[in-house]
Amino acid sequence: MTDRVVEEIAVADRESTLRWAIIGTGAISHHIAQDVTGLIGAELVAVASRNARRAGEFARLHGAAHAGSLSEVLRLGEVDVVYIATPHATHHEIARRALMAGKHVLIEKPATMDVAEAEDLRQLAQATHAFLMEAMWMKFNPAYRALIDFVQSGGIGAVRSVRASFGLPFPRDDSSRWNADLGGSALFDQGIYPLTLACDMLGAPTEITARGVREAGVDIAQHMTLEFGDGRYAQLASSMSEFVEPTAAVNGTDGWVEIPFPFWVATEFTTHLADPKTFLTSQTSQFEKQGNGYTPMLRAVQQAILDGAREHSLHTWNDTTAVLALLQSTATQITQNR
Ligand SMILES: NC(=O)c1ccc[n+]([C@@H]2O[C@H](COP(=O)([O-])OP(=O)(O)OC[C@H]3O[C@@H](n4cnc5c(N)ncnc54)[C@H](OP(=O)(O)O)[C@@H]3O)[C@@H](O)[C@H]2O)c1
Repeated sequence: MTDRVVEEIAVADRESTLRWAIIGTGAISHHIAQDVTGLIGAELVAVASRNARRAGEFARLHGAAHAGSLSEVLRLGEVDVVYIATPHATHHEIARRALMAGKHVLIEKPATMDVAEAEDLRQLAQATHAFLMEAMWMKFNPAYRALIDFVQSGGIGAVRSVRASFGLPFPRDDSSRWNADLGGSALFDQGIYPLTLACDMLGAPTEITARGVREAGVDIAQHMTLEFGDGRYAQLASSMSEFVEPTAAVNGTDGWVEIPFPFWVATEFTTHLADPKTFLTSQTSQFEKQGNGYTPMLRAVQQAILDGAREHSLHTWNDTTAVLALLQSTATQITQNR
């Protein structure tokens, strides 16, 4: 090969490789780092932390060339896309700074604390021509995609109701989950998944009724009933103080689908369909977990960015703001009806 051909291949490789930075060194960042480094065409180049030692250790562990503060990492020309996994209340400001630095942005859920912050990021991403998405990994999970296809193709007839809950107690510690100033909330950490599932299956609700438990400004448990017109409804719950069976079911006129724990990263679902001879036929479909479960989302984000897209059709910014509005409405009702 001539030097020129080698150089052209190197340029082509560079153009089809996306260079990632991770902000925050918590548990989720380690899981994402493993999936980024396992992805073809992805390179983890940097990690940002408030603490230089933590950043250095994380970078060494995952093979990132750079470690530093948020400002240092955002200044790096070799970072294409930034993944933000910090406490909820910090997302808006960090995403803002990343967009201003000319980076594409993937933000952990919920993308922001409210719709106003999300609209601000939308405008900024439009101005900087950046890709912007909330890391709603559930929507990219192969089992979830197959479930959506099955339900949308009429597999259980007309969809009439959804039951979904995510109640897993968190240890009572000094983490951001119990800190109101940092946006600690079971609704934000867990309730966002049942709400997203319900909206995917039934559309936009016409009404939402919510009650729950709020302690020191933190929503620690909640249950919601959503109405979708014509008697269609969803019953949802989340809690970080007690167990609420973390499974889901989608019910229709011809049968129902059960999604076992953990429904937000399920590797199987079971259909129960009306059968004229046996009354019911049940069948379980199984799917492979890819990486730590984030790989399908990361691959989709990577492809969208390389294709020049500004958002992903499976989880648009309008999807994000629609669910944020429901989270806000739920939190407001819980505060008002205590
Ligand atoms: N998709 C999933 O499966 C999943 C699972 C868990 C959490 N999450 C989401 O991931 C995000 C982080 O949640 P988490 O429970 O990991 O939070 P966390 O442990 O409180 O914080 C994560 C990291 O953010 C940095 N950080 C902490 N406080 C900060 C502050 N005040 N300002 C800036 N950075 C700060 C810390 O890294 P440094 O000390 O290195 O700066 C910390 O390790 C949330 O949006 C959460 O909903 C998603």
